[in-house]
Formats: sequence, C-alpha cells, structure tokens
Amino acid sequence: MSNEWWRSAVIYQVYPRSFADASGDGIGDLAGVTERLPQLKDLGVDAVWLSPFYTSPQRDAGYDVADYTDVDPLFGTLDDFDAMQAEAKRLGLKVIVDLVPNHSSSEHEWFKAALAAEPGSPERARYIFRDGRGENGEVPPNNWLSVFGGPAWTQITDADGKPGQWYLHLFDGSQPDFDWNNPEVHELFRGVLRFWLDRGVDGFRVDVAHGMVKQEGLPDVHPLVQLGDDELTADLEEDQAEETAAEKETLVAEFAAESPYWGQEGVHEIFRDWHNVLAEYEGDRVLVAEAWVSPLEKLAKWVRPDEMSQAFNFGYLETPWNAAEVRAVIRDSLEAFSAVGAPSTWVLSNHDVIRHTTRFSADPLPPQGAGIGPKTPTKLDEQLGLKRGRAASMLMLALPGSAYVYQGEELGLPEVVDLPDEAREDPTFHRTGGELYGRDGCRVPVPWTSTGDSYGFSHSGRSWLPQPPEWATYARDAQEGTEGSTLELYKQALRLRAEHGLGTGSLTWLDGYPDAVVAFTNGDLTVIANIGTEPVGLPGGEIVLDSGKGTHGSLPADTTVWIRTA
Ligand code: NOJ
Repeated sequence: MSNEWWRSAVIYQVYPRSFADASGDGIGDLAGVTERLPQLKDLGVDAVWLSPFYTSPQRDAGYDVADYTDVDPLFGTLDDFDAMQAEAKRLGLKVIVDLVPNHSSSEHEWFKAALAAEPGSPERARYIFRDGRGENGEVPPNNWLSVFGGPAWTQITDADGKPGQWYLHLFDGSQPDFDWNNPEVHELFRGVLRFWLDRGVDGFRVDVAHGMVKQEGLPDVHPLVQLGDDELTADLEEDQAEETAAEKETLVAEFAAESPYWGQEGVHEIFRDWHNVLAEYEGDRVLVAEAWVSPLEKLAKWVRPDEMSQAFNFGYLETPWNAAEVRAVIRDSLEAFSAVGAPSTWVLSNHDVIRHTTRFSADPLPPQGAGIGPKTPTKLDEQLGLKRGRAASMLMLALPGSAYVYQGEELGLPEVVDLPDEAREDPTFHRTGGELYGRDGCRVPVPWTSTGDSYGFSHSGRSWLPQPPEWATYARDAQEGTEGSTLELYKQALRLRAEHGLGTGSLTWLDGYPDAVVAFTNGDLTVIANIGTEPVGLPGGEIVLDSGKGTHGSLPADTTVWIRTA
C-alpha cells in the first residue's frame, strides 16, 4: 500500500465564517484562521480543510460561488489566503480547499449571461434550462424537489416581463446546477483546480460529488417518494395508510439506489479527469468526495485508484450509539474501501449535521438536515450526550484510516438548539417556512475565551449567530491544561494516535466481551468502548486514554478506553 499522507491523516474542518474573526465584522475570516492555526497545530491535527471562502452572495453560506478563483471580501483577499497557507506550511499543516462543482451562484457571470441570452443559446447550455410543462409552460419541467425544500426548478422572467424557461437547482434557487454534459463546464473546473494547485493547496473536498450528472431526459421521480409521511396518509383509512407507507418505503429504497440525479455513473469520468489534473502536480494531493451514497460498496467506487482519494463515510456518521451497528459499519467500511485500495474515513460531525454530542442523546433524532429548534419534540440530555460524544470520538480516533474533526468538537460543543428564528440563515429554514430548522445550530461561532462579548471569536466582540452562555464553560481557554477536559482528551488522543501509528495500523476484533461492547486491537493498543448500560470488566494493562473520569478496573457505560497491554 502506498504511503500518501492523507491515508492516515486527521483532517480538521474549518468553517471559516464561524472559526475566528480578525476583521471584527462578526463573521470569521482568513486572517482569523491564520491567527489560530498554531492552536490547531497544538491540537495535533495533520491538515485543515476550509469550507468555501470564495466570492459569493452567501445565500448558502458560501456554497453558492460567484467566482471560484477569488476570495470574498467578507473573508479577506487572495493575499490573506496566501498568508494563511504560508503559516499552515510553516507549522507543517496541509491545506485542503472546497470545490463546489454541482452548481454555481446565480450571481456567477455565466448564469447572468444565461439569463440575458435566448433559450437554446450557448450561454443557457452551461446550466439546465428547460421549457415548462402545462399549456403555458407554467408547470415545472419535472417533479424533482430541492434538498432545501420546495421544487428544484425556478421559472425566470424574460426581458419582456413574460414568464420564461425554468432552471434546475437541486439546492437553493440561488444555486443553479451546471450541465456537466457541456465541455465548457469541464474546462472551467479544470481551470479552477489548477488555479488553487498553482497556489499550493494540498487538495480539494468536492461538494455534492454524487450529484453532478443527471439521468438523460430528467425523468420524474415516483410521486410517493416526494411526499412527506403526513401528507402521504392524511386522507387514508388505517390499513390503506399502512399499505401506502410500505409502498413508499420500497420506493424510497429504490430511489436511493437508482435516483435520476444522485450517484449517476457519469460522475466517474469527471473524477478520473480531475485525478489526472492533480497528478500533473508534484507531491500527494488529495481529492475527498462529499457523497451521500449508499451502500458502502457503491461509495467505494468513488475512490477507485484512478478517481477520488477518499470519500466521507456518512454511513459511519449516521450510525446510532449501538454496539452491533457500530461494529458492523466499521467492518463493512474497512472491507469496502480496502477492496479498492482506499483508506477508510471516519467522521462524526460537520457543518451540515446536528453535532454528535447532541445527536447521541437526542430522542427521537430528527431527520438529517431538519436540525433542532425550540419546537422540536426531541428530548435532550447534555451531559449524557457529551459523555457519549467523547466516547464515540475516542473510538473513532483509534480506527485505522483518516479521520475528520469538525471545529468545536474538540471542545465538546453541543448543538445550539434555541437560536431565535430571526437569527437563522440556513436556506432550509426559509424555504420550508420554518418547518425545518436546518443547520445553523452546528455553525454557531467557536468560543476561544471564557469571557468577552463573543468568547474570543471576534476582535470586536460581534458574532453573526448568537452564542449561548454555556460557551463560557466550553471555551478553549477554560479547557486548556485542565485535566479531563474534552480539549485535553482530543490532544492526548491525537498524540497517541500518531505515536502508536493507529492511522496506518490495522484492526483486529477482540472476542469475549458482552454484545454492548466494541473491542479491538490496533497495533499495541487495545481499544474498548462500552456502548451498553452495565459496567464491563477490563483486561490488565495501562489505561493510556480514558474518555470517562478516572476509569479503573471496570469500564462504565458510555466510555472508551485505550489500553497498552504489552
Ligand atoms: C453540501 C454542503 O456541505 C452544504 O453545506 C451545502 O449546503 C450543499 N452541499 C450545497 O452546496
């Protein structure tokens, strides 16, 4: 197996608008990242991945890019980027940037030109414009829905004021999808890759790497797949409702496997092309796929030797706190990825999901993307969630392969669940009329100090989302050097992970433990996670890492330890 750095790296996700604000406008920026990089070095990560900081009207927090080769003034300038990268290199940290190729912003020059041009023109052909259905073209071209709610099509108004064609957007209306059948689109993105590679980046995280290619003819999705459970059964008798719900379940499973817009075979040709662009550059550059694709065997195709380097393991992220399921997903991931010679990756949190400390106590857990807010009928237990979150993180960081850490998880931050409606910015919240809260709760700016108006996030004390008073106790300076703090636990785990070569190691399952326990060895360490409710006996040896408080002799529930047995 080759020894590229990313195969075993711990990669820290910086979500720039919420990480550190040097300009004082209340929104994080690149200069803020530069200032805080030494603390990430000190944490012990190998690389940083930055979510988009490109020119953008920020309708989807920067995942709506208007210019792929410039920095938005909110985040600074290209010089600020260079300075940040130089500092990262000085500290020995790799830098990965985000690539958003499924869609641009509606403020991108190309889209503006498309709106100004005629139907059938080369300008329109870079996006997916179609005539509407119905007598006067008033019905969208097909029934696809946006991930953020509502139809995936918006009708434009022509220069003469009359309703015109429709364009496709799998996300917000301000994020028109490119037409990847168009060679010009391929050329644009080869150029974008080269632009950032020439500036020295170590790789790219590829947004929506499962959505770029759409099935020919853009066929409708079965209408039942699109209906919410309540709408589905609203006017039906009980037995009919059950039948319809069962039918929907089958259709949803079919949709997941054969969607006309997710996971089309055509994406692989694009990945191979980009793989070749990266190969023109010296050193190991990485392509990481954000691909919500299942099953794992299908996802593994994204990381065949001549395609992407690695893919986020969302199957792992979505696995509940249940030992049998955790064992199964680890086993299946190692098997599926190693079958194609790729490292497995592990991730528990990111800027799109409820933070895992909160997820692990949420009952019931809201569906992905829905978020949690004041009206969500979900019970939470912050202390239990933190305990489980720490245990889950220590299990993850002991696994062979590459792990992703989302900013703030090293502080044990919970999801902020009581943001006022007026503060919310996620398009999911606005497109669903507030029915879904969306993702703002995991994007609340990071607390660096236990005092100060924005807990050290901003030089001016401003913060684009309100931070809760608990941020004082979670703040980095309150945890620094404090025995047993989550920050110190992560630091110790990352140091031991490197010392014991866990990332490049291999896992051997240990028998003889109760079902509720996940136990394995990796190199000279034994890792035991108790996911049940009863304490379990521990083997002899020195406990070198403990997600709980002073574990000794037996392992309490919701706790992970690393033991040196040799
Ligand atoms: C995935 C990104 O992680 C998410 O934040 C964004 O809203 C969508 N892709 C659309 O770009």
